[in-house]
Amino acid sequence: MYSISEKMFSVLVFLIIVVVFLYYKWAFTYWHRRNIPYLEPSFPFGNLPNLFQRKENIGLTVEKFYNEMKRRKWKHGGVYFLVSPVYCVIDLEYVKNIMNRDFEYFTNRSIYYNEKDDPLSAHLFAIGGQKWRNLRTKLTATFTSGKMKAMFQTLLECETNLLKQIEDCNNPINIKEILSCFTTDVIGSVGFGLECKTFEEKNSPFRIYGKKVFKDSVLRSLKRAFLTSNFPELARKLGILAFPSEITDFFLKVVADTVKYREENNRSRNDFLQLLIDLKNSGTLSLEEIAAQCFLFFLAGFETSSTTMTFALYELAQHQDIQDKVREEIDAVLKKYGGKITYEAIHDMKYMNQVIDETLRKYPAASIITRTCVKDYKIPDQDIVIEKGTSVIIPVLGIHHDEKFYPNPEKFDPERFTEENKAARHHYAHLPFGEGPRICIGMRFGLVQSKVGLTSLLKNYIFKVNKKTIEPLKMQARSLILAAEGEIWLDVYKL
Ligand code: HEM
Ligand SMILES: *[C@@H]1O[C@H](CO)[C@@H](O)[C@H](O)[C@H]1NC(C)=O
Ligand SMILES: *[C@@H]1O[C@H](CO)[C@@H](O)[C@H](O)[C@H]1NC(C)=O
Repeated sequence: MYSISEKMFSVLVFLIIVVVFLYYKWAFTYWHRRNIPYLEPSFPFGNLPNLFQRKENIGLTVEKFYNEMKRRKWKHGGVYFLVSPVYCVIDLEYVKNIMNRDFEYFTNRSIYYNEKDDPLSAHLFAIGGQKWRNLRTKLTATFTSGKMKAMFQTLLECETNLLKQIEDCNNPINIKEILSCFTTDVIGSVGFGLECKTFEEKNSPFRIYGKKVFKDSVLRSLKRAFLTSNFPELARKLGILAFPSEITDFFLKVVADTVKYREENNRSRNDFLQLLIDLKNSGTLSLEEIAAQCFLFFLAGFETSSTTMTFALYELAQHQDIQDKVREEIDAVLKKYGGKITYEAIHDMKYMNQVIDETLRKYPAASIITRTCVKDYKIPDQDIVIEKGTSVIIPVLGIHHDEKFYPNPEKFDPERFTEENKAARHHYAHLPFGEGPRICIGMRFGLVQSKVGLTSLLKNYIFKVNKKTIEPLKMQARSLILAAEGEIWLDVYKL
């Protein structure tokens, strides 16, 4: 026998289900109402595969959207992430308009930040509008080629540790782990003024907190994504943090201690942190703002560069002819510069550049790029308006694997990036660092760091794939950055 309250309860549940269902039905008419072609969504995840058993990297999911829209000859199209409409750009001229020509309509990224309760989250990548513009202008000064050149020596000091680490290992080596240590060392050194010592201390707090940030952010994003992405103002009022406070506290303290030490002891050093301290002393940045940028450089710099180097070495290990060709270039160029790895020598390596460009084509660390529309935008040649607040996705992985731009796209072929072949292709067919005013600010640094790592390794060792590596490589489903699932094992032979 049901009691009254049980009956009312089931009626209530039933009503809620009906309301949610009707809401979905209405929300899923969004693209139809805007007259934009769309891929048919389904209840309850929209166009995303089952979120609770994520089996696929978001880049691959979006690549499928790209391929399907391309097959239907669309220049763009709508999809739904749960109930939220997301605008997918396919045509490269549209991509160019959004990233560059009409950038003023797309200045934001809609990443949640909470400056008051969680100062580290208000970094360059997350903020938008005029706020972003002001900070970007200040920080641009820290990434000029003059500054890179001055920092080069500091970066190079981490090379010794990299080689030592390889010396200490037996075959096969876990190359991703070694390169993660290298890039953590580099960013710890130039971003936080620490000595390179990740290798000596296996449990360096930098490695531990670095791993935590990436792990936690995915779990948290599942739990809080709804609130922070749909109601950021409310989330800020509720004091919801973007990162757990233990991570924030750690990075804030490291930066505060180093700044204090340098100021008390009148020390200076050729690194990012010093450039930021100089900005602080001229009254343009606060200590929290410095820490937020250091934290961002750490997040943006270490995983992207280490996966890029890992994929490059993996491909070179599979293609001995290409590996030999890079090594010949390294030897010839270094000879020209007295056997030393210098800033100029690194820039003189043309084939190395092609190898990195091709690596970033096949494995773009950022497999999608996002923007948010900040004022109603009429698409130039059509009678269609993208509404303020709409999320925009640029399907980088899809574009990079489109056989129209790159015949036989799964093949690793640095010849695609000779000057001649590059000039024959649409400029926006290669977007590993994004484009336009919000292009990766650390591009130069990321490239230099990757080239130094590869030069140092290839100069001294031959690499071959060990059969412990599970091939073909699968991409991690839950990682925001495109990275291989499982380890990549290489055999190393000293030259
Ligand atoms: C191979 C290495 C790297 C890759 C593939 C990479 C890729 C990217 C991409 C695709 C974006 C988004 C661009 C856009 O929206 O148009 C970006 C933004 C950014 N990257 Fe990198 N990055 C790398 C290394 C670095 C390094 C070493 C740093 C810092 C030291 C860095 C700092 C940043 C920052 C601060 C932004 C945000 C810029 C803004 O919103 O104004 N990146 N990166
Ligand atoms: C863009 O970003 C700025 C600063 O982060 C914010 O104040 C503004 O509301 C954002 N605009 C939209 C449409 O999201
Ligand atoms: C700090 O060092 C600089 C040069 O390194 C010197 O010119 C300056 O006088 C020093 N200031 C103090 C307070 O010691």
